[in-house]
Amino acid sequence: MNVSQLKCSLCGALYAPDEVRYVCPKHGDIGLLDVLYDYEKIKSQVTTSDISKSTNFSIWRYWELLPIDNRSAVPPLRVGWTPFYSAKRLGKELMLHHLWLKDDGLNPTGSLKDRASAVVVAKAKELGVEVITAASSGNAGAALAGLSASGHIPAVVFVPHTAPEAKVAQLLIYGARVFLVKGTYDQAFELSLAASKKFGWYSRNTGYNPYTVEGKKTASLEICEHLALIKSKGSTSAWRAPDRIFVPVGDGNIITGIWKGMRDLQALGWIEKMPKLMGVQAEGAAACYNAWKEGTETITPVEAHTISDSISVGLPRDGTRAVRAVRETQGAYLTVTDEEVLEAMRKLAREEGVFAEPAGATGYAGLAKAVRENLVDQDEDIVVLVTGNGLKDIHAAVKAAGKASVIEPNLENIR
Ligand SMILES: Cc1ncc(COP(=O)(O)O)c(C=O)c1O
Ligand SMILES: [Zn+2]
Repeated sequence: MNVSQLKCSLCGALYAPDEVRYVCPKHGDIGLLDVLYDYEKIKSQVTTSDISKSTNFSIWRYWELLPIDNRSAVPPLRVGWTPFYSAKRLGKELMLHHLWLKDDGLNPTGSLKDRASAVVVAKAKELGVEVITAASSGNAGAALAGLSASGHIPAVVFVPHTAPEAKVAQLLIYGARVFLVKGTYDQAFELSLAASKKFGWYSRNTGYNPYTVEGKKTASLEICEHLALIKSKGSTSAWRAPDRIFVPVGDGNIITGIWKGMRDLQALGWIEKMPKLMGVQAEGAAACYNAWKEGTETITPVEAHTISDSISVGLPRDGTRAVRAVRETQGAYLTVTDEEVLEAMRKLAREEGVFAEPAGATGYAGLAKAVRENLVDQDEDIVVLVTGNGLKDIHAAVKAAGKASVIEPNLENIR
């Protein structure tokens, strides 16, 4: 394994990888840790060409950049290497020449969260823990349930009782122990942390576990590998970062992961530029946007209300790094309304055949707004991260699409 140290994102304190399990002990539960690697060692082990020749079409093709020692700890379910589509129709509509969609709804449990859960389950197997737990708005829990079924470790998942039915069904069918908490996601998060401490369960809670970011960063690695393949027509020695990436933001752990992947690639000299990260939040759950706008890294909680249940977060647990990711890459935060999200769901599905849940379509809603506000240049390479599958929340899909006509079985009705 090439991990060298864990670094506190608040005070910069450094720890050996096995010295702390979750967070910097100096700040309660909020000192989230960045995982640092020995980049010279990685460069001596593998090149971009080696990786691009790999026939392992999953996140594990980036083995040298991941925090796991033991290949037998990896759960078999295939995660990652999701489609990267050139979005020609939507590009034309928005007058953008180079628009791509990365469809992470096609992961095994239907969201980008599978990337984090695969890495955390592998870590749990290495540590020899007996139970994993997580709080989730739905998708992280479903991902943990699926990946821990695949890795044969029991999982205990806490979700708000309002989580969409399909997500709760996923938790149950994978055999997780499920607690529907009468409260918000933020309350489920606190309860899960308390249970982890009390019962000694391994916590996968977003951000609190330093390895969730490491899983999510693989989406960045794939984007740069895909773009190089497309742009260089087969010559794959250097990878290529896009100019901008639109990312939906709830807790802020996905955007932190996207940033971390890009920073790893820069440290290795495998990409030349850092993309501008565009964080998109729901207007009714915009704590990161507010902090960014006010020029602070201190997150003030809000009362969250949005159709996009996956990003309905009042107190973003990875908010500080999520604000920093946007500021340091010279990107921007945007907010979108529920109506704009429903429109984005229709556009993605009807113009490009990509069916996203509301949070999954939020990045595209943000792009449409950014175009209206002249925030992007039409020649930029732009990637929209679609983070969750539309079948996760069919009530929202019906809201976006309307109802079908019911007819008597005869041709007259069709006419
Ligand atoms: C589909 C989907 N999109 C976006 C997000 C936001 O990710 P984060 O909470 O890490 O910002 C989530 C998180 O649950 C999600 O499930
Ligand atoms: Zn610290």
